[in-house]
Amino acid sequence: MRVHVADHPLVTHKLTVLRDKNTPSPTFRALAEELMTLLAYEATRGVRVEAVTVETPVATATGLAISQPRPLVVPILRAGLGMLEGMVKLIPTAEVGFLGMVRDEETLQPTTYAERLPEDLSNRQCFVLDPMLATGGSLIAAIDFLLARGAVDVTAVCLIAAPEGLAAVEKAMEGRDVTIVLGAVDERLNEVGYIVPGLGDAGDRLYGTV
Ligand code: PRP
Ligand code: URA
Repeated sequence: MRVHVADHPLVTHKLTVLRDKNTPSPTFRALAEELMTLLAYEATRGVRVEAVTVETPVATATGLAISQPRPLVVPILRAGLGMLEGMVKLIPTAEVGFLGMVRDEETLQPTTYAERLPEDLSNRQCFVLDPMLATGGSLIAAIDFLLARGAVDVTAVCLIAAPEGLAAVEKAMEGRDVTIVLGAVDERLNEVGYIVPGLGDAGDRLYGTV
């Protein structure tokens, strides 16, 4: 498993505004999308491509085209939905599937309440989107789900991770073809499973339920 933490002042700037408790939902949504687009540049570094040629008005040029089968983008509902547009803006031909997961606020265990994905993911390259990697339970369950369906190569994009959760994902995915791209790794998890300093509940802030 590979981990890449973005090291770019624009990412940190946008994350800083996202973290601010006074940032309203419309701005929060716009920033989540913009951050996804910035992180997508790194997350798609390994996107499968094949050599093609095109005719320019002057000569034949060699280039690359995204390979078949198309990449599958999987936002984890609810909060991952806030990152979807930022990703498909860069890969408009991607297929999109959905996983709905929620973690129990007491036990912190995730449950899957919705799934709309192709039955067979053999040989598929998947991109999982979820802004928060806290205990890591949701992301581990989501990646396990995709690998069990036959996905061969999974990249997850999260805006903020807790070190404890990142370590749990690294342990669970050891030796697997999994990449995690992050905007930041924060200090720690608190006693109720929130990332510190984090940004609070991403789903609530995206959808105005606070
Ligand atoms: C949040 C977040 C992740 C999960 C992270 O979702 O979007 O999916 O918690 O926590 P974990 O790493 O400890 O599993 P939540 O369960 O709050 O659902 P929501 O997106 O519907 O708000
Ligand atoms: N989910 C969130 O939305 N925020 C956290 O800090 C942890 C889990």
